[in-house]
Amino acid sequence: MMGTRTAIAEAEGKLGVLLVGLGAVSSTFIAGVELLKKGIGQPIGSLTQLGTIRLGKRTDKRTPRIRDFVPLADLDALVFGAWDIFPDNAYQAAVRARVVEPALLDRVQPELEAVKPWPAVFSRDYVKRLDGPHVKVGAHKLDLADQLMADIHAFRAATGVSRMVMVWCGSTESFLRPGAVHASLADFENGLRANDAAIAPSMIYAYAALSLGIPFANGAPNLTVDVPALIELAERKHVPICGKDFKTGQTLMKTIIAPGLKARLLGLTGWFSTNILGNRDGEVLDEPSSFKTKEESKLSVLDVILQEEIYPELYKDYVHRVNIHYYPPRGDNKEGWDNIDIFGWLGYPMQIKINFLCRDSILAAPLVLDLALLLDLAQRAGMKGIQEWLSFYFKSPQTAPGLYPEHDLFIQLMKLKNTLRFLRGEELITHLGLEYYD
Ligand SMILES: NC(=O)c1ccc[n+]([C@@H]2O[C@H](COP(=O)([O-])OP(=O)(O)OC[C@H]3O[C@@H](n4cnc5c(N)ncnc54)[C@H](O)[C@@H]3O)[C@@H](O)[C@H]2O)c1
Repeated sequence: MMGTRTAIAEAEGKLGVLLVGLGAVSSTFIAGVELLKKGIGQPIGSLTQLGTIRLGKRTDKRTPRIRDFVPLADLDALVFGAWDIFPDNAYQAAVRARVVEPALLDRVQPELEAVKPWPAVFSRDYVKRLDGPHVKVGAHKLDLADQLMADIHAFRAATGVSRMVMVWCGSTESFLRPGAVHASLADFENGLRANDAAIAPSMIYAYAALSLGIPFANGAPNLTVDVPALIELAERKHVPICGKDFKTGQTLMKTIIAPGLKARLLGLTGWFSTNILGNRDGEVLDEPSSFKTKEESKLSVLDVILQEEIYPELYKDYVHRVNIHYYPPRGDNKEGWDNIDIFGWLGYPMQIKINFLCRDSILAAPLVLDLALLLDLAQRAGMKGIQEWLSFYFKSPQTAPGLYPEHDLFIQLMKLKNTLRFLRGEELITHLGLEYYD
């Protein structure tokens, strides 16, 4: 049965994409979009650009591209702004990151050089391995938030964008648990004025974005917008938010394979994951307090997928280990190894080995694009608060308080596509399929 179509404002005018952190992921994302605008390359890995959506019955043969089904901003309409603790423009950042080859970067050099970061809100208390000269100074954290808002106003005036989204692509901050200052918006605003130590820089960016009605996505595992105070602000301002931690590399593989093992009721005694990474992200994650934030994010996925409490014969007490080693020679080209100890019929043990030679930022860039476009769509469709349907993109999906996140990539994809069908008043797809045999 068809539902009602949600009114969605058209994607008119330019969309400003505000990136916090102009490092490997951000520069690879911007370079890719600028190349695509010139017809160079393909948007591989992007659901909004290449994905399709099946509508109605299989016999109907209606499978439009997602971007033709819902009104998304065109790549040509994207304009970029960024903050970083280093003053390098996007071209210099991309050269430094050594992800996209120089010959390709040169084709979009002027466009990349035009993206010059604003001074950052930064504190070494939250990222111990980094220090940079390009930072804001303020009387207190509310003053810093005001300075970010001033950057955003100036960006809007200079570029004429009609809408904006903000994506955190900055370094992973130290591990933080939600505390009293995050409990409500009033507590948080008092904390901003009082320079409360539990308000991390990423939260100040999120506060600035949400206060101006700008949707926010968090690509790193830091708490950031996943605290009651900022969820309250998002609800009040009618702004969509989502996070945390882009799902790429080893964890992406985990959430592809674990649902398959569970589907066939194969048991697990242990999953050992290790990898070597040589970019700046690897350097930051080499420090225990930043790694702790990442580790929590990486460890949670298997527990939720395997449901040990429902399948004790298969998944009780399995051992899960995750390591990241900073190894400069590899740069952004991460190499990951997984050893998976499984068991089958009558408990006979078997092993699976995965050796993934991946490219971190190449896997992350299309996620930044999709999140920017889908958050903008959500905003125009009047959706606000936590956008659980965007779990597909995250290692630690943000969900309503008390609700466990869905980690299975295929359930996440179904959730995302059904949300789009729902917005367009199309029948949701259950895969029941009995009607074909009546
Ligand atoms: N690439 C992936 O596959 C992947 C997957 C999941 C999560 N992430 C996360 O995405 C983030 C970006 O990754 P990357 O490889 O681009 O790292 P990167 O180190 O190359 O870039 C991060 C940039 O953020 C800047 N920065 C740090 N704190 C800042 C602040 N407070 N304000 C403004 N700028 C700040 C740094 O100077 C740096 O240029 C990291 O947190 C990483 O953990 C990446």
